[in-house]
Amino acid sequence: MAQDNRSAAAAFANSGPAAAAGDREFAFSDADFRGLAQVAYEQAGIALADSKRNLVYSRLSRRLRALGLTTFREYRDFLSENLAERESFINAISTNLTKFFRESHHFDHLRSEVVGRFAKTHVGKPGRMRVWSAGCSSGEEPYTIAVVIKKEIRDLERHDIRILATDIDTEVLGRGSRGEYPANSVDDIPRPYQDYFQPVDGAKTETVAVDRQARSLVAFKRLNLMETWPFKGTFDAIFCRNVMIYFDGPTKAKLIERFTEKLNPDGFLYIGHSESLNGSHAGLSLVGRTIYRREA
Ligand SMILES: C[S@@+](CC[C@H](N)C(=O)[O-])C[C@H]1O[C@@H](n2cnc3c(N)ncnc32)[C@H](O)[C@@H]1O
Repeated sequence: MAQDNRSAAAAFANSGPAAAAGDREFAFSDADFRGLAQVAYEQAGIALADSKRNLVYSRLSRRLRALGLTTFREYRDFLSENLAERESFINAISTNLTKFFRESHHFDHLRSEVVGRFAKTHVGKPGRMRVWSAGCSSGEEPYTIAVVIKKEIRDLERHDIRILATDIDTEVLGRGSRGEYPANSVDDIPRPYQDYFQPVDGAKTETVAVDRQARSLVAFKRLNLMETWPFKGTFDAIFCRNVMIYFDGPTKAKLIERFTEKLNPDGFLYIGHSESLNGSHAGLSLVGRTIYRREA
C-alpha cells in the first residue's frame, strides 16, 4: 500500500522529461500554467498545485505537437475555442495509475461483508446487488470487484448483479471496455483469482482477457464526478479510491456527501489509503481502514 502511494506520487511528480524553463520546446509562462490549472479545476475539480507545472508541461506538450501549435498561449486559445479539445485536455492531465487488487484489504472486506452476506441471504432466491467504481481508470478496480463476486457467488446468472464503472477519461474507459491486459499485470493477484484471466488466442500470447462472465457484470460509462449523476438507483458499495487526492477540501467534502446519499443503508464506501475523511461525516461510520458504512 505504501508502495502504491509512493508510485502515485512519483507518477504525478515525474511525468516525463524535466522541463527546465530554458530547455523547453514550447513557451510556457506562469499565466499559461495558471490558466490551464483553472480549466482543470472548473472542468474536473482537479486542483493542480504549483508543483505540477512540469507534469502539465510534459503531458500537454504531446497535444501541442499533435495540433501543430508552437506555444502554450496558442494552446489555451485553442482549448477555449474548441469544446472538443476539453476531452483530450482532461485525458492528458488525469493520472490513471491503478492495478488489480490494489489495497487488497478492501476486497477482503467486500468479499465477507457484502458479497458473502449476499450469498448467504440469497440461497435459492434471486437477489440484486449494485456496486460503483467511481474513477475506475482502465478497469482493474471494477474487474477485481467482478472476480471477487464471481468466485463467491456460484449461481451468478440467477441474480441481478451489476458493477457501474465510471471515469472522466475516455481513453482509459476504452481500455477498460476491451478487458484485455498485459499478462504480467495479473502476476501479483492472489492465486485463486488468476484463473479468471486467461491468455488471449492461446497460451503463447502476452495478453490476458478477463473471464467473460465476470466482464459481463461491468458497464463502463463516462462520468465527470463534478457533474449531475444521471442514475437514480443506490448502491451496496461504492469504491472511490485514489481519485479525491486530486481534489481540494470543499470538493472532497461535497463528493462524500453525494456518495453517502447514493449508498443503501448499511452500504459501504471505500476510499484510498491517503484520503481519510477528516472529522465526522453525517451518515457515515468508520468501520475499517478507509472503509465507511452508511448508517441505517
Ligand atoms: C489514480 S486513478 C484511480 C484508479 C482506481 N480507482 C484505483 O484506485 O486504482 C484516478 C482516476 O480518477 C479519474 N478522475 C479524476 N477526476 C475525475 C472526475 N472529476 N470525474 C471522474 N473521474 C475522475 C482519473 O481519470 C483517473 O482515472
